[in-house]
Amino acid sequence: MTPVEEQHTEVIDPVRGAVDRTTSSEVRELWNRESAKYLARSAALRDFPLPSEFLPRPGEKVLDAGCGSGNCVRMYREITPDVCGLDCSDAMIRAAARCGTAVQGDVQRLPFINASFDYVASQLVINHVVDSRGALAELSRVTKPGGRIVVAVPNWLSCVSPMRVVMLKLRRYGLGRCRHYTLSTLRREGSAHDLVVRRATAVRKLPTARNWLRAIPTWVGYELDQLLHVFYPLWGGDLAVLFEKRGALGGDEDRDGLP
Ligand SMILES: C[S@@+](CC[C@H](N)C(=O)[O-])C[C@H]1O[C@@H](n2cnc3c(N)ncnc32)[C@H](O)[C@@H]1O
Repeated sequence: MTPVEEQHTEVIDPVRGAVDRTTSSEVRELWNRESAKYLARSAALRDFPLPSEFLPRPGEKVLDAGCGSGNCVRMYREITPDVCGLDCSDAMIRAAARCGTAVQGDVQRLPFINASFDYVASQLVINHVVDSRGALAELSRVTKPGGRIVVAVPNWLSCVSPMRVVMLKLRRYGLGRCRHYTLSTLRREGSAHDLVVRRATAVRKLPTARNWLRAIPTWVGYELDQLLHVFYPLWGGDLAVLFEKRGALGGDEDRDGLP
């Protein structure tokens, strides 16, 4: 066991192997190459504009599955101390280890025992994997009943989708594989794994107005960002969904939180 795994013996699955390195070397290599871009963008990504109810609560045990360079691990640790990042890429996991606990593994076969976490985040990850339903099943498996899962995926209904699809094809990004989702797809796939949608919002991991307009003072860029939020349902490139896992809920557990 690595020192990180030793710290997490209570959640690491002894049967699956402490750390699952089964992700194909092709996929690992792809994300190792992508890591340079993520590290360069890390300052911008820290501003991920999720509403507060999408964030973990103090005292919760948190997993960030597909944590990339660890920006969210660092952000979540400002809220609660028990945060674990997981990623398949060697380069990403090295960067994430500077932000907190980081375990190498595959989101399609998480190396944790059932019901290990109160809150699980997986942003822009399941859209890249071969078995995205299997990944959602795994996220659900490691979440405690009544726990929350935040999944962000490319938003099919965004006005930036056509442009992004063309760019992905040109760059063969994600080995040419990057799914786009609608809310109803995620709702259907989640309900197969005991997950009920509580809230959804369009978000954006594209460059912010602040980054485009670096030349002007930060607060002006911030105000412009706020203005652009008004158009998120149309322009938000990504869709974030807050799921609650069935089990510890009251009588309304099957009722979707959305209109
Ligand atoms: C688009 S990045 C998103 C990173 C981070 N969640 C964020 O929002 O900034 C996708 C991340 O998922 C990781 N990833 C891709 N396939 C994976 C898999 N099968 N298991 C675990 N991580 C994976 C990649 O290494 C990469 O760090």
